[in-house]
Amino acid sequence: MHTLTVDLGLRSYPIHIGSGLLEHAELIAPHLRTRKTAIVTNEVVAPLYLERLSAGLARVGVDIVPVILPDGEAHKNGQTLNMIFDALLREHCERSTTLIALGGGVIGDMGGFAAACYQRGMPFIQIPTTLLAQVDSSVGGKTAINHPLGKNMIGAFYQPRLVLADTVTLATLPAREFSAGLAEVIKYGLIRDAAFFDWLEQNIDALRRLDADSLAFAIERSCRNKAEVVAADETEQGERALLNLGHTFGHAIETGLGYGQWLHGEAVAAGTMMAAELSRSLGWISADDVARIERLLERAGLPAFGPDLGAPRYLKWMMHDKKVEAGKLRLVLLRGIGKAVMTGDIAMSHMSAAIEARCR
Ligand code: NAD
Ligand code: GLY
Repeated sequence: MHTLTVDLGLRSYPIHIGSGLLEHAELIAPHLRTRKTAIVTNEVVAPLYLERLSAGLARVGVDIVPVILPDGEAHKNGQTLNMIFDALLREHCERSTTLIALGGGVIGDMGGFAAACYQRGMPFIQIPTTLLAQVDSSVGGKTAINHPLGKNMIGAFYQPRLVLADTVTLATLPAREFSAGLAEVIKYGLIRDAAFFDWLEQNIDALRRLDADSLAFAIERSCRNKAEVVAADETEQGERALLNLGHTFGHAIETGLGYGQWLHGEAVAAGTMMAAELSRSLGWISADDVARIERLLERAGLPAFGPDLGAPRYLKWMMHDKKVEAGKLRLVLLRGIGKAVMTGDIAMSHMSAAIEARCR
């Protein structure tokens, strides 16, 4: 097992990464404050992993309140959030009851937001079961639900007490979902870790074969990058926004097509190519760099082009981005592989051209 720390002073917490950790209740028990513990999961993950987690916790005397939600991005909304509150209230959960989110990023984001709101805040633990959640969404305390007008628009910064990433769970993840997680892994290489990007070029095939050593390395390196950024800028006043490379374009795809049509990671991959193309058109990166990024995304099983919604529709949805300031769109672009920058003064015509070039 590898352990990293997200360094946030008194709210610092560990990230444990390893094989078979779901069964190690002794890692979880010290973080629980009451016997009763709620586990929020969904109808796909519950049959796979709820029993394994619950059995270990029962052995150390924990009473489980299971909350099983419908699956998918299309359910990351207020209605499903209320199902969590209904269950917590029905079962007399208290402010000191811990909520464990067991699942992918959708469960983690919704469970975390429920924990932030229930009785004005209950402790919560992230047990991510997708690659995307293990390398990104479970770390850093961003929690949210979607709104029909914008992705992740209603939410809170609310840190977990513990992140437990059991790499065994990735064995049941569909290949398409695994690839979606790779989009966020590649993101760290692009924004701040050129050596990791090089490593990914050498090891992407091993990762897709679920080679244990490669997987452990990539998850730990990703979490280390994320933990450093979050520790430096928890509430996204500056550097943390760079973690959104490709996301502004990507959110337009997700919202524009309807949640759940394209996977989040797929939309981020196509959005990353739009950001790369825009950076190239500004003379900030070379055509060779763009080709390297495209090749790696494609080898990861990800789309390098977005759906052809037309640039005006992209731009309309992009204006709902959380990085919009004083009505002005700000974008994360690249100054090289391993170097991302935030920019607010790109002409609409440039953005349109980059979008059109990367749609089909
Ligand atoms: P997801 O949660 O929908 O999970 C993908 C699918 O895999 C679902 O059907 C899920 O039920 C299933 N699944 C989960 N674990 C499984 C397993 N071990 N075996 C088999 N199936 C499994 O999607 P995701 O890609 O994990 O997360 C995407 C979400 O994360 C988006 O809503 C995105 O906005 C959010 N996100 C949040 C942050 C953050 O910082 N909070 C960062 C990145 C993404
Ligand atoms: N996924 C972006 C962030 O956590 O800031």
